[in-house]
Amino acid sequence: MDYGTIARTTEGPIGIITLNRPEALNALNTQMVKELISALTSFEADDSVRCVVIAGSERAFSAGADIKEMAEMTAVQMAMTGHFFPLWDKVGRFPKPIVGALSGFVLGGGLELAMSCDVLVASETTQLGQPEIDIGVMPGGGGTQRLTRTVGKYKAMEMILTGRRIGAEEAKTLGLVSRVVPKEAFLSEAKKVASEIASKSPVAVRQAKMAVNKALEMGLADGLDFERELFYLLFASEDKTEGMKAFMEKRKPEFSGR
Ligand code: HXC
Repeated sequence: MDYGTIARTTEGPIGIITLNRPEALNALNTQMVKELISALTSFEADDSVRCVVIAGSERAFSAGADIKEMAEMTAVQMAMTGHFFPLWDKVGRFPKPIVGALSGFVLGGGLELAMSCDVLVASETTQLGQPEIDIGVMPGGGGTQRLTRTVGKYKAMEMILTGRRIGAEEAKTLGLVSRVVPKEAFLSEAKKVASEIASKSPVAVRQAKMAVNKALEMGLADGLDFERELFYLLFASEDKTEGMKAFMEKRKPEFSGR
């Protein structure tokens, strides 16, 4: 596929998607959503890709859904086309880890896309918010659910009902981003985290990601049972044998993903 609104590249085991509509601060339009889904699908199928990075530019990760495109849409069009929902489903259920490289504006659907990633690295200039209330709507890509589960009811209510943006340090304090770095380092740091993850057993990484995500959906007792089942399963992997053998032989493990 030829991409017009994103760039899709790989660096060793890392698949990189760069949002590329600078004229609209990387606002997510239908074409970009289709291209994102296509790039993610290709990375999912490629065994050499062990971790994905989704990045924007220094000025904007994404300023949200494309308002100019949405302005003319009716409720029926939204519902019948599914609008952006296939994207949220694709990212939310993506089996490999995704590192979000954030900088500048991370707003509305942009924040919802970020919150569907697994690790978030933010530049110190990052501003995060759900400003949909300012244009007469509300978050529709998971924002009311994922933000509330992450920062709690009161902060989520404040952000969603006032549209107020928060900065990177506040987001870190709230647990909304994993780490904050100088603005020139947000992409390199995200790639560094992705490389670190990519060096681990892909089988263990996959299971661990699934288990952490289940913590947001299940009660504790069921979550612990689920975790235990995944843990047992890893004892059937070649990577478990290799990892433990390498430890005893005082060498680096070479994980095959089997
Ligand atoms: C379409 C957008 C856009 C958006 C910015 N632009 N955000 N176009 N959709 N979401 C365009 C502007 O129209 C402008 O192009 C160019 O990008 C630069 O933006 P400026 O406004 O000139 O820049 P600045 O003054 O620096 O302000 C930046 C900003 C502001 C604070 C981010 O652009 C802004 O408030 N944008 C809207 C943010 C928002 O409401 N996001 C939520 C969308 S709803 P032109 O050509 O006009 O000069 C949503 C729902 C998700 O995300 C639902 C999922 C299912």
